[in-house]
Amino acid sequence: MDERNAERDSATLSTLMLDVHDLVAVVADVGLDSFMDEMIATLRTSIGAFDDRVVEHQVRSGFSYNTPEHGLVEWMPAMVTRDVVSVKTVGYHPANPVRRGIPSVLATTALYDTRTGRLMAMCEATLLTAIRTGAASAVVTDATTHHQPISLGVVGCGAQAVTQIHALRRVRTIDRLVVTDTDAVVANSLWERLPDGVVTPEVVSLDEFNARIGTFDVVCTCTSVPLGHPPVADFSRARPNLHVNAVGADFPGKTELPLEYLESAVVIPDLAEQCMIEGESQRLRLEDLGPSMVDVVGGKVQGLATQRTVFDSTGWSYEDLLAAQLFLGHAQRLGLGTTIDLQLEPNDPYDPYEMVRFTAAQRSIQSSASVREIG
Ligand SMILES: NC(=O)c1ccc[n+]([C@@H]2O[C@H](COP(=O)([O-])OP(=O)(O)OC[C@H]3O[C@@H](n4cnc5c(N)ncnc54)[C@H](O)[C@@H]3O)[C@@H](O)[C@H]2O)c1
Repeated sequence: MDERNAERDSATLSTLMLDVHDLVAVVADVGLDSFMDEMIATLRTSIGAFDDRVVEHQVRSGFSYNTPEHGLVEWMPAMVTRDVVSVKTVGYHPANPVRRGIPSVLATTALYDTRTGRLMAMCEATLLTAIRTGAASAVVTDATTHHQPISLGVVGCGAQAVTQIHALRRVRTIDRLVVTDTDAVVANSLWERLPDGVVTPEVVSLDEFNARIGTFDVVCTCTSVPLGHPPVADFSRARPNLHVNAVGADFPGKTELPLEYLESAVVIPDLAEQCMIEGESQRLRLEDLGPSMVDVVGGKVQGLATQRTVFDSTGWSYEDLLAAQLFLGHAQRLGLGTTIDLQLEPNDPYDPYEMVRFTAAQRSIQSSASVREIG
């Protein structure tokens, strides 16, 4: 049987572009709380049932630099076999908010069809990253603490703080919220950026935060602390069952927690190989790490609620694949997005010049017409 072009009718090379307005439209349709709830449920279910025979992923890689200023551009690949490859590309430039009024973390995700290699969709992932990072902390916090309500401390009041607090609010009642930031402008504006239903944050100095560390059930550290700087808070008087979501360490040499505190806790890496390079765990030995996020979320580890726990959150590419699929599913349901011809699609697959030749032929007709007009 001649298989030539047998699948031509079902093959297209068009790409669905899902921009920030499409994501805003999805969130408007679903509701912000419900969208966060869906993200939490998606991560809980898919990470809890993670199977490395079905999902492949790689430690992220990229370029980091100090000129023109400190920052990086990196890529985070994951694949659901026989289905989809996702590559999130992230820029991290901590001077962006103060210098330029744009976010520190900027991201887009590309989804590829593993049958053809086609770029199926490109989507906004800056807001999506913030939501999935909050959701990841929520699923781990939910699995490691039994407190209800919780007293929450937050160090760093930027973009990630908003979704950390929102996501935790979806799994726990927060009866006290104490926050600190080296930039008072950012700390004092946090209340304006939090969604409805969250208790008003109490903004305190670092000294006051440290003095109150023993009153917190959960702490989130989500700072853009520079490389090699001292810990962002003093945890020496922390409760014996404090849970910390350590979100900001995602660069070699950049960490947020005191080493002694880390050594006193059960450290739960989102992706151990990556955490050993750029998370809090970069200062530990592999054998010092606790159970993985997969095992904790999957309910395979008991007794964590009575121990100090640290979620070493560096950001896992599989979370980004799941987040992009959630967005894509809603966008398709609502008929959102713009289809563009980003990739060459000639009638003859062996002829890369086909479309160019057509344009060149048109140009020659046009130029001979204009020569006639001048003549
Ligand atoms: N784990 C993940 O999956 C993940 C995802 C996204 C971002 N991040 C990381 O989270 C961190 C925060 O990201 P963001 O988007 O909120 O950045 P942001 O620039 O919006 O906010 C960071 C805040 O931290 C404050 N800060 C810096 N040093 C501090 C210190 N020593 N003590 C207290 N506050 C301090 C800054 O003043 C700023 O307000 C970044 O390091 C980013 O790379 C991690």
